[in-house]
Amino acid sequence: MKGLILCAGRGTRLHPFSYSQPKTLLPVANYPVLHFCIRKLREVGVHDIGIVIHPSQLQIPEYIGDGSQFQATITFIQQEKPLGIAHAVRLAKTFINDEPFILLLGDNLLMDSLHELARTFEQTQADGVVMLSEVERPQDYGIAQIAGGRIVSVEEKPKQPKSNLAVIGAYLFTSPLFDSIAMLRPSARAEYEITDAIQSMIERGYQIAHTVTYGKYSDVGTIQRWLEANRWMLSQEIGDHYVVGEECVVHNCEITGPVLVGNRCRIENCKIGPYVSIQDGVQLSNCAWIEDSILLENSSLHDIDWPITQSVFGRSSYLAGTHVYDKGVLLLSDKSSIIIPSEKKRDEL
Ligand code: G1P
Repeated sequence: MKGLILCAGRGTRLHPFSYSQPKTLLPVANYPVLHFCIRKLREVGVHDIGIVIHPSQLQIPEYIGDGSQFQATITFIQQEKPLGIAHAVRLAKTFINDEPFILLLGDNLLMDSLHELARTFEQTQADGVVMLSEVERPQDYGIAQIAGGRIVSVEEKPKQPKSNLAVIGAYLFTSPLFDSIAMLRPSARAEYEITDAIQSMIERGYQIAHTVTYGKYSDVGTIQRWLEANRWMLSQEIGDHYVVGEECVVHNCEITGPVLVGNRCRIENCKIGPYVSIQDGVQLSNCAWIEDSILLENSSLHDIDWPITQSVFGRSSYLAGTHVYDKGVLLLSDKSSIIIPSEKKRDEL
């Protein structure tokens, strides 16, 4: 069994943070989303993993290194044009080499393991298995219709959904998928849709089994969903504790977990939490209250006497200043600075 993770998407809805790094490297509970995908594959014994990237995403091979941190062998496959999931899979045909494979979307986080997916494949001997989850807005997903316990159709973002069971970015396929992909035409959004390839397999008489997950799932595609994924991943990883990395100074702080602090951070006179991820090298002093936020590497916040919530601070960003009277939401991109003069200084201006 091989693994294939798709990472080539542009992540425009995560701008400005995805300008400077691929969205699959943006951290959730201080680890890149991609890290969790690889971990899921390793949990079910898959170690031969292909990752589809855009040629500009050199930070992904840099992050993976030789793959030994995951005890996996990683092969990179390049997708130059954003022509859809099925197109990315087709590019991996030589790597897959007729073996069954688990396909994961690199920006999707799952709480459940992939054991049920792998077990269903073994027990049913189906030609494919898809993981489904009940969703509130079926119009935004690939939707499966089930009859007599079997998937009878799948439809990409249907206007009139036949169910609320969405295909959520974890699939297991066998090689007949590649013939179905070869027959596809681009969809209305000019992409080769994996949902159309699954539908074609069903029409060609192949059996597609399914599992339903009730664990949390997030497509980390927008800043709100990134923060939401950060909240539940923090709870899953550290409960309501707070965990501080190496070589940190934490002095005179009130911390309510879950809060995760990386290495080499300095935090003084701050109230922090719950649901805050702080990456390596962050400096915080005199912050009235930071909750539900993500602070990327080397960001600094000083003398903030107003509460900060649902905010993201880019790498090496800098915020200093006081006297804003309401709760603030801030999205500061990498290396940006905001310095708010104090009231006294404003009077002098
Ligand atoms: C893609 C798939 C869709 C699936 C979704 C899961 O949609 O095309 O079938 O339900 O991922 O996140 P996209 O994110 O490309 O809109």
